[in-house]
Amino acid sequence: MKAIGIRTGASEPELLEVPRPDPESGQALVRTLRVGVDGTDREVIEGGHGGFPEGEDYLVLGHEAVGVVEDPNGTRFEAGDVVVPTVRRPPAGGENGYFARGEADMAPPEKTVERGIDGAHGFMSEYFLSEERFLIEAPPELAPRGFLIEPISITEKALELAYAARSTFEWEPDTAAVLGNGSLGLLTVAMLAREMDVYCLGRRDRPDPTIDFIEAQGGTYVDSRKTPVEQIPEEYEPVDLVYEATGYAKHAITSLYALAPNGVAALLGIPGDWEFEIDGGRFQREFVMENKAMVGSVNSGPEQFRAATGTLADLPADALDDLVTRVVDYRKFEGAFEQSDDVIKTAVQFGER
Ligand code: NAP
Ligand code: BGC
Ligand code: ZN
Repeated sequence: MKAIGIRTGASEPELLEVPRPDPESGQALVRTLRVGVDGTDREVIEGGHGGFPEGEDYLVLGHEAVGVVEDPNGTRFEAGDVVVPTVRRPPAGGENGYFARGEADMAPPEKTVERGIDGAHGFMSEYFLSEERFLIEAPPELAPRGFLIEPISITEKALELAYAARSTFEWEPDTAAVLGNGSLGLLTVAMLAREMDVYCLGRRDRPDPTIDFIEAQGGTYVDSRKTPVEQIPEEYEPVDLVYEATGYAKHAITSLYALAPNGVAALLGIPGDWEFEIDGGRFQREFVMENKAMVGSVNSGPEQFRAATGTLADLPADALDDLVTRVVDYRKFEGAFEQSDDVIKTAVQFGER
């Protein structure tokens, strides 16, 4: 079967011929429908994040997938069920407590592999296998957009952690700043704009589809070249919630200054090393005296996938149509991973239901 992957030492993905897998006991065989592309895929291709499966010279890409069960192989599924796989799997050494507790998303990097990202093949192939416990069922009508369940689940988890950090008092956020107008940031704008006033930070000139998207959701575009994150309170207003999705470490740190007292910042970006100076005294003082919180959040688990399925069903169809600017056939995937100003989110199509 065909798969989209990257070989060791290569700088571009290619269409590979790989063996069609046979399910073992406890695994279902899934026929792939669509797989989304995000900033992490680009980081993996550039070699800045993730790694190859042990002993292999290629990695099948893709971690935002939706498919249909082809062979249930004794699992709880029936042939034709629409399913979405979670991303993390036990590492080569086998099971550990995080997986046994169903908390793989809380495992440190050395206690897990991530399909399509780090140490395990992803879902950009005509078929893939998955253990039953790592497959989440989705309503058939969500199949065309089901690849958005994984990224939505990322935000479900980050918001859960943010709310948990504010759970000792009555906290009802009215305002949020989403840092980053990539696919994750904009999906989060669409989610949050239903409940609060949203600012979204980017570094683009008009006309730009991401700015149009932010404004169509009722949000306000903030240009980081004119308004650095710490000046959001003076230029606009202090915000109760920050959702950082740039991978630009300075924004993550200075997001503390964009927060209103008692606010919380959720950090999602995964930058490389970068040293810069900050006023540590001011940082700690504001953190403490204004009861602020910062949470880091990576990955997501089955409960957040289930919540994301409900969220996807509730999001307005026109917003989702504006977000997914491109669906490309897997045989003509060239360019699918490239970022350009007219593309927000790309999905690679492998099959139809
Ligand atoms: P993406 O498509 O690369 O988006 C990043 C966006 O941030 C881009 O639109 C970029 O603008 C903008 N940006 C970068 N630096 C900026 C700056 N200095 N000022 C203003 N805007 C800036 O990536 P994504 O898929 O949306 O993901 C966002 C980040 O979250 C990535 O670092 C990714 O690795 C991470 N992520 C983490 C998780 C997790 O579980 N923690 C899950 C998914 C993604 P331009 O397009 O104009 O350059
Ligand atoms: C994926 C997560 C993964 C994270 C770190 C994100 O793009 O959506 O599932 O844990 O990258 O590799
Ligand atoms: Zn991702």
